[in-house]
Amino acid sequence: MTTAYKLVDHTYDVVIVGAGGAGLRATFGMAEKGLSTACITKVFPTRSHTVAAQGGMSASLGNMGPDDWRWHMYDTVKGSDWLGDQDAIEYMCREAVPAVIELEHYGVPFSRTDEGKIYQRPFGGMTTNFGEGTAQRTCAAADRTGHAILHTLYQQSLKHKAEFFIEYFATDLIMDEGVCRGVLAWDLATGELHRFRAKMVVLATGGYGRAYFSATSAHTCTGDGNAMVTRAGLPLQDMEFVQFHPTGIYGSGCLITEGVRGEGGYLTNSKGERFMERYAPNAKDLASRDVVSRAMTVEINENRGVGPESDHIHLHLEHLGPEVINERLPGIAESAKIFAGVDVTEEPIPVLPTVHYNMGGIPTNYHGEVVTLKDGNPDTVVPGLMSIGEAACVSVHGANRLGSNSLLDIVVFGRAAALRCAEMIDRNEKHKPLNESHVEPLLDRFDRIRHAKGSIPTAELRLKMQKAMQTHAAVFRTGETLQAGVEKMDAIYASFNDIQITDRSMQWNTDLVETLELDNLRENALTTMHSANNRKESRGGHAREDYTERDDENWMKHTLAWIDKTGKISIDYRPVHMNTLTDEVEPFPPKARVY
Ligand code: FUM
Repeated sequence: MTTAYKLVDHTYDVVIVGAGGAGLRATFGMAEKGLSTACITKVFPTRSHTVAAQGGMSASLGNMGPDDWRWHMYDTVKGSDWLGDQDAIEYMCREAVPAVIELEHYGVPFSRTDEGKIYQRPFGGMTTNFGEGTAQRTCAAADRTGHAILHTLYQQSLKHKAEFFIEYFATDLIMDEGVCRGVLAWDLATGELHRFRAKMVVLATGGYGRAYFSATSAHTCTGDGNAMVTRAGLPLQDMEFVQFHPTGIYGSGCLITEGVRGEGGYLTNSKGERFMERYAPNAKDLASRDVVSRAMTVEINENRGVGPESDHIHLHLEHLGPEVINERLPGIAESAKIFAGVDVTEEPIPVLPTVHYNMGGIPTNYHGEVVTLKDGNPDTVVPGLMSIGEAACVSVHGANRLGSNSLLDIVVFGRAAALRCAEMIDRNEKHKPLNESHVEPLLDRFDRIRHAKGSIPTAELRLKMQKAMQTHAAVFRTGETLQAGVEKMDAIYASFNDIQITDRSMQWNTDLVETLELDNLRENALTTMHSANNRKESRGGHAREDYTERDDENWMKHTLAWIDKTGKISIDYRPVHMNTLTDEVEPFPPKARVY
């Protein structure tokens, strides 16, 4: 049946899948180093989800007060609730400073101080002197920092003549006895299938926020790379850790940047009380996101929410005045007007914790190389495969990511992947021939979904999954809700076998695109629910009401989750890296978090 598909062949040193900030930083970095480089992306590069990042990118430049990369490292380890790998965190925080300067030189139009330096604002969990004061560490281009960075990185990629395959949907990895040799992709415009052979495939496909009903993520955030990895028989790591951003606009989920609170905005309940003072007496509204989201949820659950249903919270910035708002927060003023009908100079914005970021993903080391647990070695590198950005679990964010560490992560590890490939890949080495038998099962899967004649429409099953995730893998979790969630997700996962597609065409078939995306989302959702049910403690974004304490003795370890061909999950673990990279900093031993 699948011989009906004629394949178009390509050969490159490196193929990057995804053209967000991580994908583009890797793409031009590889091209700059003389590697033949292709970037495959399902949307036009500057429409990638990085464009929506608002508040900024952290780096201890010290432009607005004293700062040090060690303080940044401490905050990130603490923010991760001691699940982050400290070697990777050291790498990221040290490299942050040159990475921002490099971006400035590439042309990112950062906001400026009166002296002309890069403007930096405070963000949650970012402190000076190991927790004593508040750091102004987040480098911003008003509240459109992701937009500015993404456009600059795309321009750099074009300058370095990287080749782009735009509106190509990468469907699967081509694996040969545990080695990744390329990727299969569908050209949405022509309907042709393309086989890309590469010495290295880099997955930079972003998160899977759309497994949930309400998310700040773009509709394209469907965890495509993560699912390619599970289908290749490899594990995903720490999928139970899903970040809820405290301030999604009530109703639409559209992001209102933490930068609002960084500039002096604050939250109130129905009594007009600044309740964060009770939950985090030191950091208050600038506590880390897991803490603020939990506090907001408690206020709502205890009937102190605002609105007719007491089901959301108010975010105030009226007191900042039109001048500050226009200069530093123009984008969110526009979003609040469009999505909540609110003039932020006069009224508070109605907000609610909303799914924002996946700490879990494809396990990698700090070079971006994908790792797995094999023959007892938890750091076994999977040859030919890398992952960076939100798709990856490197793991610098551990159980909870600090705001503005994501734009940093994508730039630093996109660059790290390029450096690693430049050092490892022999440009003159011949590619091994591809065996048809490696591609045949991938074509079969594509064809099976394209011709699915079941009874459940894609939109119906997707909604069921999104509601199950929203209810059962929520801000607060219990054994009972998680067990019910596991049963629901197992059934939803299996129901995909009864999916119904009505359009069988090959060109611009959005029915098929959405169904392939749903197939990917269900891999992410299933591993998330099972991993959450399995972890019997509270840590970072995983807050269990039946196990309220962090349990370092039994649970300071990364979860690995595999899915077999029948949808059965198996779980194992990797140790957290408690070692640093250099002797310029000592590892930070676990301690209780004080806010
Ligand atoms: O609130 C924000 O601007 C989001 C930043 C982030 O997720 O890093």
